Amino acid sequence: MISLKNIARLWQKGLVRNLQTSSALQHDALFVHRDTAEDNPDIKFEFSPENLKRVDAILAIYPEGHKRAAMIPLLDLAQRQYGWLPLSAMHKVAEILDLPRMRVYEVATFYTMFIRKPIGKYHLQVCTTTPCWLRGSDDILSTIKNHLKINVGDTTCDKLFSLSEVECLGACVNAPMVQINDDYYEDLTCDDMIEILDELKDGKRPRAGPRNGRYASEPLGQPTSLTSEPPGPGFGIRSDL
Ligand code: FES
Repeated sequence: MISLKNIARLWQKGLVRNLQTSSALQHDALFVHRDTAEDNPDIKFEFSPENLKRVDAILAIYPEGHKRAAMIPLLDLAQRQYGWLPLSAMHKVAEILDLPRMRVYEVATFYTMFIRKPIGKYHLQVCTTTPCWLRGSDDILSTIKNHLKINVGDTTCDKLFSLSEVECLGACVNAPMVQINDDYYEDLTCDDMIEILDELKDGKRPRAGPRNGRYASEPLGQPTSLTSEPPGPGFGIRSDL
C-alpha cells in the first residue's frame, strides 16, 4: 500500500494527478487584472484597417439600440488580431460600443475563450474530462509535457506553444482529443500527438480531425446499425386501415 507521504512526493514530481487539479492549473484562470509591462491601459490598441471593415460589418448585423450584442464578436476579432486580449483592446471595444468598460470586463473574464495574458502562437487545449480521460488523455497530456518540456499553464521559450488542460470540448465520440487554435485533433495516440507538434514546429498545418481513419464520428469499421434500406411509407401500419 502506498503511503500518503509517497503520494505527496509523486504528486510534487508531477507523476500523479488529482482529479480536481484541472481548474486550478487552467491556463486562463486569471480572474483579476494586475497591470504588467505587457498589459496595462497605456498600451495602445487599434483595429487594423482591414479589421475596421470587419467591425463595421459586424455592427451592421445588429439593430440600433442593440449594438452591445456585437461585444463577443468584437472581442474575438481583437484577440485574433493581437494574439490574446489585452486590457486596451477591451477598452477599444467598450469605446466602439459606447459602453462602460466594466460591461466588457464582465464578458471577457467570464468566457475562458478570451485569453487575457500573452500566449504562444499555438494554444494546445487538452481535454481531460471523463470520456477523454478513459481513452487516454493523461497519456496525451504527458506526451505534450515531455515533448515540449512544459507544464500546464506554461508557454515554450520560443513562444510557439502554450498548454492548457480544459473540460469537455464536445468531441467525446472522438476521444481523446486536443484543440489547437481553431482546429480539433481527434482519436489521438501519443505518436499522433508528437507528429502534430513536430509539424507545427516545422511551420506546417497538420491535418485536423480524426487520426484513426474515420471521416468524422461514424463507427470505426463497418456500420453496426441502420445497415439496411429504410422501409417505405406505410411500414408498420395495420392492413385494414
Ligand atoms: S470529454 Fe473530451 S471532448 Fe468531451
